[in-house]
Amino acid sequence: MSISQLARSIKESPTLKLNETAALLREKGEPIIHLGGGEPKSRAPIDAIINCTAMVNTGEVRYTPADGIVALKKAIIRYTEEHYDKLVSPKNVIASNGAKQAIMVALYTILEPKDEVIYPTPYWVSYPEMVKLAGGIPVPVKAEDGSFQPTVQEIADAVGQYTKAIILNSPNNPSGAVYSEDFIAEVVRLCEKKNLYLIMDDTYNRLIFDDITPVNCYHYATNHTESSKLIVVNCVSKMYAMTGFRIGWAIANKEVVAAMTNIQSQQTSGPSAPAQWAAVGALNGVQNSVESLRMSLQNNRNVLVERLESMDGVHVRKPSGTFYSFPDFSAYMKDSRKLAEFLLEKVRVLVMPGVDFGMEGHLRISFCGTIKDTMEGMERIKWALDPNSPNELYLGERKLVRDWV
Ligand SMILES: Cc1ncc(COP(=O)(O)O)c(C=O)c1O
Repeated sequence: MSISQLARSIKESPTLKLNETAALLREKGEPIIHLGGGEPKSRAPIDAIINCTAMVNTGEVRYTPADGIVALKKAIIRYTEEHYDKLVSPKNVIASNGAKQAIMVALYTILEPKDEVIYPTPYWVSYPEMVKLAGGIPVPVKAEDGSFQPTVQEIADAVGQYTKAIILNSPNNPSGAVYSEDFIAEVVRLCEKKNLYLIMDDTYNRLIFDDITPVNCYHYATNHTESSKLIVVNCVSKMYAMTGFRIGWAIANKEVVAAMTNIQSQQTSGPSAPAQWAAVGALNGVQNSVESLRMSLQNNRNVLVERLESMDGVHVRKPSGTFYSFPDFSAYMKDSRKLAEFLLEKVRVLVMPGVDFGMEGHLRISFCGTIKDTMEGMERIKWALDPNSPNELYLGERKLVRDWV
């Protein structure tokens, strides 16, 4: 069969394979603990459900404008005013099928073949593949000091003749790091100086802990005209626990939004109408679900970090946002894929290998599940890796016996 060069260049979602193996094991009745997930387990806000079902109950579920319904654009404009202190017009807004499509159509819109896109390591697994799909070259930038945030100089050093854009994701998937205000401010300035697009992936910016406030990139921009190359992306997926609704958006200059809309109209048309109405409900409705999700995540984070810190040799930096931690397990095994496979095979705990996020030796361990799962998953991991643990561990009725060192 002939498969295109482009299709062949796109990696299988690394997280998918492990997820599939775990799902198969679970079907067979294996006691899997899933600490690899990327979605909160809470329910969608009631206002989202009411709006969505009311729309579906009319029985008239039609195509929508390619860039989203007026009511959703209005809700996004209001959200942008409230959270970014920025007034935008409907022509600066496009609603997409999740933040993922918003980023994807933005990349299609701005990249010429072989243009380079810079982003810090560790990075969301999808960035390199999305950049490649849009014909570009991914340029991850690793901090020399091994931290989760490169210096502005390191980013600037990666900028070359073919650089078209920088993507920043703060709080960051997978590290949970919130980039410093100075760093974001300097990158905004760098992009303006070098005439680069800056895609701010703010997907997790309401899920921040310890009274840290999210950095508003617009504060540091000096160009507030329609020639601004700042593209701000967000979604209802994480903050409202609405991953399955698939609604995200981008705020950008009118020309970019018009081009993104053209592309989206040929690709998928407007996002699903009931999902857009659900997003309107979430954005305009009672907001307490965001705060309760944030607080329960912060609590889960504390429990997970405490468990990680109790493991000799594990180096963990406390995540300041998201629902991911990214500890360094290289003291136990350098190859993170092998380590993730080992943990799934031996103690039925699913975690994600750090190498797929650009940092070998690390594991991405999520804390979006229940406290019980977090604690039990960590107990199993500790048992599997600590040579001083007792020889046996019970998973319910089942007795596990260590047959490894
Ligand atoms: C950093 C980041 N950006 C964007 C997305 C995509 O969000 P959505 O589900 O709205 O497409 C994700 C999802 O995991 C993410 O982690």
